[in-house]
Amino acid sequence: MKLAFILLIATVSSELDINLPADLLSDLVERSEDNELAYSLAEGEEEEEPYKYVINYEGTIDDFSGINASYGKCGKEIEQLDVSKMKAPHQIRLSYTGKATEMAITWTTNDTTEHEQVNYGLMMTELNYTSTSISHQYKWRFNETSKEWYYTSGFIHEALMINLIPGRIHYYQIESNGMKSEIIKFVAAPEEGSDIPVSFLHVGDVGTFGTSVMVTNDMMKRMEVKQFHGMIHCGDISYANKYDGERPMDAKNKTFAEQKVWDTWGQMVEPVGSKMAYMAVPGNHELDIWDSTNENGTIYAKRFIMPGNERYFSFAVGMVHFVAVSTDESIDAESTQGQWFKNILTEVNENRDKWPWLVVFQHRPIYNSNKIHGNWTGKNTPQYSGPDLPPFKGWKDQYEALLVEHGVDIVLNGHVHHYERTWPVRNRVETVKSYKNVKYPVHITCGNGGKSLYRFVPKTDYEDSYNETLPLFVAARSNRLWGHCELEFYNRTTVKHAMYVMGEDTPREEHVAVITKSSGSMPACFFNLYLVAVMIFVMI
Ligand SMILES: *[C@@H]1O[C@H](CO)[C@@H](O)[C@H](O)[C@H]1NC(C)=O
Ligand SMILES: *[C@@H]1O[C@H](CO)[C@@H](O)[C@H](O)[C@H]1NC(C)=O
Ligand SMILES: *[C@@H]1O[C@H](CO)[C@@H](O)[C@H](O)[C@H]1NC(C)=O
Ligand SMILES: *[C@@H]1O[C@H](CO)[C@@H](O)[C@H](O)[C@H]1NC(C)=O
Ligand SMILES: *[C@@H]1O[C@H](CO)[C@@H](O)[C@H](O)[C@H]1NC(C)=O
Ligand SMILES: *[C@@H]1O[C@H](CO)[C@@H](O)[C@H](O)[C@H]1NC(C)=O
Ligand SMILES: *[C@@H]1O[C@H](CO)[C@@H](O)[C@H](O)[C@H]1NC(C)=O
Ligand SMILES: *[C@@H]1O[C@H](CO)[C@@H](O)[C@H](O)[C@H]1NC(C)=O
Ligand SMILES: *[C@@H]1O[C@H](CO)[C@@H](O)[C@H](O)[C@H]1NC(C)=O
Ligand SMILES: [Fe+2]
Repeated sequence: MKLAFILLIATVSSELDINLPADLLSDLVERSEDNELAYSLAEGEEEEEPYKYVINYEGTIDDFSGINASYGKCGKEIEQLDVSKMKAPHQIRLSYTGKATEMAITWTTNDTTEHEQVNYGLMMTELNYTSTSISHQYKWRFNETSKEWYYTSGFIHEALMINLIPGRIHYYQIESNGMKSEIIKFVAAPEEGSDIPVSFLHVGDVGTFGTSVMVTNDMMKRMEVKQFHGMIHCGDISYANKYDGERPMDAKNKTFAEQKVWDTWGQMVEPVGSKMAYMAVPGNHELDIWDSTNENGTIYAKRFIMPGNERYFSFAVGMVHFVAVSTDESIDAESTQGQWFKNILTEVNENRDKWPWLVVFQHRPIYNSNKIHGNWTGKNTPQYSGPDLPPFKGWKDQYEALLVEHGVDIVLNGHVHHYERTWPVRNRVETVKSYKNVKYPVHITCGNGGKSLYRFVPKTDYEDSYNETLPLFVAARSNRLWGHCELEFYNRTTVKHAMYVMGEDTPREEHVAVITKSSGSMPACFFNLYLVAVMIFVMI
């Protein structure tokens, strides 16, 4: 039977002030505007059933319960996927662009770049909008002797869904040369400034280990009982980097198997990332020259569609404004990122009535009880020293001042492989042991997403280096437990944070914090202006 069908596509209008990388953007908008597209299967070609590549992990929670010194234990790395066999659309992942009417989408196929599109709409039976993709592929490491590439990626497709209705449920299906994905449901971001409660998952330092799969499965379970608006991944994503002693696959094929790890990770998180925006920021394992040998952020950029320059950017979801900071490049006052950061915080505060909540997310924390990984002051720590490192000067001097001055409510982090939450704090020692009416940022490290955990032992160097005296700013910490975190913004004054321990359905009391602020609270910079105004008035 010859299957032929024509898709009539609704007229799509578009505005150009989107926050995606300019080159990608113009091309995507052009394709979204392609409002009539006829597509038919070739003769003899049959439409195939949706196909899913499943990530299997044989282990159970018992493998990890009762662990003693957890360092180095995160389950064996799961079997790597072989992309060459994966023709159907896979590694499907959504991301916000910065506009509530849009959602970017990426998927991978090892087939062709032809007839790749996403059909979407408000009902499963009416996927009347279509956007075709831009595709790219990358090759990695050329062997001069054998004249072969060690790795060739599948075709990575990127498309933009526009004309969405903010806050509403939508459906989409990827169509790839006759093969279709399942029809997948997602929610568009609520209108900026709306009072609709906003919920996010957040996690860091995941990888493709047994524990990574189990934490991901927990997130999938949570998504079945609750509608989340998105995911924040605070860097150190797939660990597709050099051999690090924890990767049996690499041990067999020491140096050159890494890029498959990206594909495996991409498929592992597909059940999460295909159903809501998956927002990531690069960590040292994506950006740092030492830890991401041969990546330097280039592969991260090929695999994600984030707003702006994709390393530091901002986007709003309802009443929350998120700002992503890249902690593996300079943020001193003169640096490009430093200037951008100051400007974006100023801009957000000009409309703070729209976004009462201001959340920064990044990889390396500035407040954490770990001495080496958790106290980013701008100095290169011993294990990262080297001539290749960019200067981190100025982090301590201007960065925290900006957070406090502009009324940042929460800073989400990864990098330190444990769970830790501070009290509201500034200048390292000025802290208030209460989450009521907070005035300074609360720093949360959720670095227990799957990679091996750190131990709290006093050491002078490397992961396990903890001060014997617990810093005053620490409100809670756990080092034996993997898990993921959640943020639920109920309204303009109350947000609930919780860490869900791997394998547990309800958070333990010590892992929950209900943070409130007064509705009339102003960021410190406005308060200062107010003081100046009052003083001038008094003087007159
Ligand atoms: C944990 O391991 C350490 C060092 O191997 C050992 O001294 C200690 O007794 C162990 N603790 C438990 C509870 O098994
Ligand atoms: C979508 O397409 C279907 C089938 O072609 C059609 O019946 C329906 O009216 C369309 N809906 C919209 C909202 O355009
Ligand atoms: C490059 O190819 C040659 C010839 O096939 C092979 O002997 C060599 O091991 C390869 N190099 C690496 C690093 O795999
Ligand atoms: C190691 O990787 C290379 C390049 O991908 C591949 O050609 C080779 O077969 C692999 N060797 C083993 C033992 O898996
Ligand atoms: C696609 O699969 C074929 C084998 O089926 C393989 O030769 C090719 O390298 C693969 N291409 C990509 C981009 O993975
Ligand atoms: C990453 O940076 C190092 C050091 O500057 C360089 O040798 C390497 O070629 C870079 N890799 C990529 C993929 O850009
Ligand atoms: C972090 O570094 C600062 C400056 O070097 C130091 O004053 C502070 O004690 C350190 N804090 C912790 C928790 O190690
Ligand atoms: C350890 O903590 C104490 C108390 O907070 C602090 O005075 C000291 O500077 C810290 N030491 C280091 C090396 O961070
Ligand atoms: C905000 O939500 C919290 C938690 O549900 C509730 O206790 C509080 O009364 C709400 N505040 C307002 C102003 O609606
Ligand atoms: Fe890290």
